[in-house]
Amino acid sequence: MLRHPSDPPAGPSASRLGRARSEPQANEGTSMDVYEALYTTRAMRRVKPDPIPVAVQQKILDAAIRAPSGGNTQMWRFMLVDDPAQKARLGPIYRACLSTLWDTIYKPRAEAAAKTPDAPESREFVKMQRSATWLADHFESYPLFLFAFSQFDTTGSSIFPAVWSAMLAARAEGIGSALTSVMMFRMAEVLEVLGVPKDQGWNFNGCVSFGVPTGKWGVAPRVPVHQVSYRNAWGKPVGFEIPAPLWPPKR
Ligand SMILES: Cc1cc2nc3c(=O)[nH]c(=O)nc-3n(C[C@H](O)[C@H](O)[C@H](O)COP(=O)(O)O)c2cc1C
Repeated sequence: MLRHPSDPPAGPSASRLGRARSEPQANEGTSMDVYEALYTTRAMRRVKPDPIPVAVQQKILDAAIRAPSGGNTQMWRFMLVDDPAQKARLGPIYRACLSTLWDTIYKPRAEAAAKTPDAPESREFVKMQRSATWLADHFESYPLFLFAFSQFDTTGSSIFPAVWSAMLAARAEGIGSALTSVMMFRMAEVLEVLGVPKDQGWNFNGCVSFGVPTGKWGVAPRVPVHQVSYRNAWGKPVGFEIPAPLWPPKR
C-alpha cells in the first residue's frame, strides 16, 4: 500500500482501510454506455433531498480513487459530508462565497448579461447563475457532498481526474452532481469546519454536490471541437469539423 507522508506511523493499514471494516458490495456494473456518461454528466444542481444509498457512495469513491495522479502519488483525501450539523455550518460559507463570486470575477459577465439580455451568452450566463444560486439557496438540503483535498498541490491538477470520475460514476448510478470550487474564497474556514489538519499541506480543491436530479439528463452544449482545437501548431486547423455532438450516434 502506498503510504502518505501525513499518515501517522500506526496509520491505516490496507486491511483497516479496505475490506475489513465493511465489506463493500461488488460493483455489478451498469449498462450505461461510457459515451452517454461522458456526454450527459452535467452540472445537475436541482436535486431531491433523498439520501444517496451507501452502496452508491461506495461506487462513487471507489471509482474516484482509480483515477490517475502525478507519479501515482495519490496525495489526496476525500470527505463525504452528510451530517446536517456540518451542512448547516458550510451553507452560510458557501452562500457568502457565491456572493463574492458574483461581485468580483463574474461581475463583468453579469453586467454584460444585464445590458444584452437576449444575447445567447447572456441567456447562458443567467441560466447558470440561477442554477448556481439554487445550489447555494438549498445547500443544506443536498443529501451528500464530496470534498476533495490534495496535499502540496495548489493547482489541484492531480485530483480533478478523481473528482470527475466520481461524477461519472454518480451519473452511471442516476445521481446528479455539480462540481464547485467557490468555497476557495474562504478556504481557511472550510478547513476549520471539516477538521483538516493545518500543518500538513492539505488544500481544499473542490466540493461536489450529489442528489437525484429533478430534471432530465441532456447533452452538454459546448463550443464545437473545431473552434477550440488545433493540429501541430497553434492556430492551425484540426482538420475536421464536428458541427453536432457525435453522441447519441445517428442511426
Ligand atoms: C473548476 C470548476 C469549478 C466550478 N465551480 C463552481 C461553483 O463554485 N459553483 C457552481 O455552482 N458551479 C461550479 N462549477 C460548475 C460549472 O459552472 C459548470 O460545470 C458549467 O457551467 C457547465 O455546466 P453544464 O455541464 O451543465 O453545461 C465549476 C466547474 C468547474 C469545472
